Amino acid sequence: MTSAPAEAAPDRRRAPDEAAPEEFQAAFDATIARRDRIEPRDWMPEGYRRTLVRQIAQHAHSEVIGMQPEGNWIGRAPSLRRKAILLAKVQDEAGHGLYLYSACETLGVSRAELTELLLSGRQKYSSIFNYPTLSYADVGTIGWLVDGAAIVNQVPLCRTSYGPYGRAMIRICKEESFHQRQGYELLMTMMRGTEAQREMVQESVNRFWWPSLMMFGPPDDKSPNSARSMAWGIKRNSNDELRQKFVDMTVPQADALGVTLPDPGLRWNEERGHYDFSEPDWDEFAAVISGNGPCNAQRLARRRAAHEEGAWVREAALAFANRSAGGGAA
Ligand SMILES: [Fe+2]
Ligand SMILES: [Fe+2]
Repeated sequence: MTSAPAEAAPDRRRAPDEAAPEEFQAAFDATIARRDRIEPRDWMPEGYRRTLVRQIAQHAHSEVIGMQPEGNWIGRAPSLRRKAILLAKVQDEAGHGLYLYSACETLGVSRAELTELLLSGRQKYSSIFNYPTLSYADVGTIGWLVDGAAIVNQVPLCRTSYGPYGRAMIRICKEESFHQRQGYELLMTMMRGTEAQREMVQESVNRFWWPSLMMFGPPDDKSPNSARSMAWGIKRNSNDELRQKFVDMTVPQADALGVTLPDPGLRWNEERGHYDFSEPDWDEFAAVISGNGPCNAQRLARRRAAHEEGAWVREAALAFANRSAGGGAA
C-alpha cells in the first residue's frame, strides 16, 4: 500500500511538554482513556516517550543477552533433534530483539545508541540472564519457567498503549508459547528417564524457581514507577498480580511433571483462591540488577565482543545501502 504524499501539516512529534498546546495533551489522554493505541507520529508527553524507550530497550536487550545462557548448550545438545529445537529457539530470541529494537527506534532513538547504553551499563536487561546454565536440564527449565514467566508478563503487553510495542508483542508471544512447551516437553522426557535425569531436573528447578519469580520485578509497594506506567496504559497489571498468576499456573504443571518447587511456604489458600508462597530474596535481586550477579560481567563482555566482531558486517551493510541508494561507490 502506498501512502499519500505528505501534506504540509505541522510536525507534532516530540514537541517539548511546555510548548504542547492543551489540545494535544487532551487528545493523548482521550486515546489512553478509550484504550486505543498511540502511534509514532502522535504527540505524546516526554515522560511517556522516555518510559517506553527505557522499557522497550530493556526488553530488547533481555532477548539478545538471553541467547547466551542457552546458546552455551547448542554445541553439546544430546541429540540432533534437541540441537535443532534449541537452535530454532535461540534464533527466535534474536528475532524478538530485532522487533523490539525496531519498535524502540520509532521513538526517535537509534539501535546504535541503544547498544551503547547497554554496553556502558546505563540500560539494563532482565536479572534472570545473569544466572549460569549448568546442565542440559537448564534448557528445559528455562523454557518452562523463564519463557513461562515471560509469557505471563508479555501477554498483557499485547494490549499496551503504544502501537509498535503492542504489535511486536503479539508475534513474540506466539513464539514464546512454543519456547515454553519445548522446555516442558524436554523436562517431561527427562522425568521419564533415569533416576540421574530426574535428579538433574529437580536440581535445575531448585536453582531457577526463585530467579523466575524475581522476573516480575520488585513488590508493588517498592515499584515506584508502576502506577504511572499503568495510568499511561503501558503496563496493564501490577508486578504482584502477575507473579501470583505465574505461581498459580505453574504449581499444577510442577505436579504433573513430578518435581517439587523449592518453597516450604507454597500451599493452596482456599479463601483467596490462590497459592500462597514465600517472599523471594530481594537482597539477591538487588545485587543481581546492580551488576553483582553470578554472570553479569561475563554476559556483558560476551555482548561487547560480539558487537565488535560484527563491526565489519554493519560497515558492509551501510556501504551497500549507500551504493543502492545511488550514493556512488563506497
Ligand atoms: Fe523472546
Ligand atoms: Fe523465549
